[in-house]
Amino acid sequence: MNLDFTGKVAIVTGGAMGIGEATARKLAGLAASVAILDIDRDAGPKSAAAIAKNGGICEFFPCNISVGAEVSQAIDAVVSKYGAIDILVSNAGIQLYGDAVTTSEEEWDRLMGINLKGCFLVSKYAVPHMIERGGAIVIVGSVQSMTAISNSIAYVASKHGLLGLTRAMSLDYAHRGVRVNCVCPGAIDTPMLRWAAGLSDDPEKVIQTCNRMHPLGRIGKPEEVADAIAYLASPMASFITGAALVVDGGMLVPAGGMGFQEGGTGAATHK
Ligand SMILES: NC(=O)c1ccc[n+]([C@@H]2O[C@H](COP(=O)([O-])OP(=O)(O)OC[C@H]3O[C@@H](n4cnc5c(N)ncnc54)[C@H](O)[C@@H]3O)[C@@H](O)[C@H]2O)c1
Repeated sequence: MNLDFTGKVAIVTGGAMGIGEATARKLAGLAASVAILDIDRDAGPKSAAAIAKNGGICEFFPCNISVGAEVSQAIDAVVSKYGAIDILVSNAGIQLYGDAVTTSEEEWDRLMGINLKGCFLVSKYAVPHMIERGGAIVIVGSVQSMTAISNSIAYVASKHGLLGLTRAMSLDYAHRGVRVNCVCPGAIDTPMLRWAAGLSDDPEKVIQTCNRMHPLGRIGKPEEVADAIAYLASPMASFITGAALVVDGGMLVPAGGMGFQEGGTGAATHK
């Protein structure tokens, strides 16, 4: 079965860059009408225009997903423009570092407001339109929806929360024709990852370390996550709901991590 979203309307939050931009491009390439909801009023219109220039149907709708009134307004604008919503890709998110002591209350609230509450708000206003005709929601979690890295409490908690939100909403809407799934990427080469690497004195070393964390030997491309999102949004995934699909180059597989695999036991050297 080929993926074909002709006649379908897709919302992609955080579609101005990174995984969201690749997803908007992918879905538009498969003939969906795509609405990019993003806070970035500079990059957002440029991404939408580039997709439209390549023959896709795509428009930018400015929106801070952590503010209910803005989300409600943006969803109304999408429905006025395209007449429906079939696919919601809840992707927008931010990363902040800190432990329980060093994370400020403002940082915690800001990150949760975008990563977790933002996903709730977009669902709150989009789902009523989807129930009418059936549809699919794909939430972008992370390998940190299932595991943790140190000094990252708010992000890890928000990503664990998104998997809970996925499972809870999948039950609420299963009998009303809306499937809800989560993709959990490993390290993906986006502006967010480059920003995180840039916090180090040696960003390239961080990227090399990220490459080695994945058994496939490299970080992922945004397009590889977009492919998984398109699959989960499509009728090819018609019997999948409440699931978490890791798109991580095998990152979660090795017990003890890649370092342990390379040198930790006799099994690693006894060939
Ligand atoms: N890059 C990775 O390695 C990686 C790994 C796992 C999960 N993820 C997740 O994938 C998603 C996308 O990440 P990315 O790496 O493409 O990030 P990115 O920073 O490259 O892009 C994020 C997009 O979200 C938008 N955004 C931020 N705050 C917003 C808000 N309040 N309202 C609307 N839009 C907002 C930004 O403007 C931007 O366009 C995030 O949820 C992230 O946590 C990323």
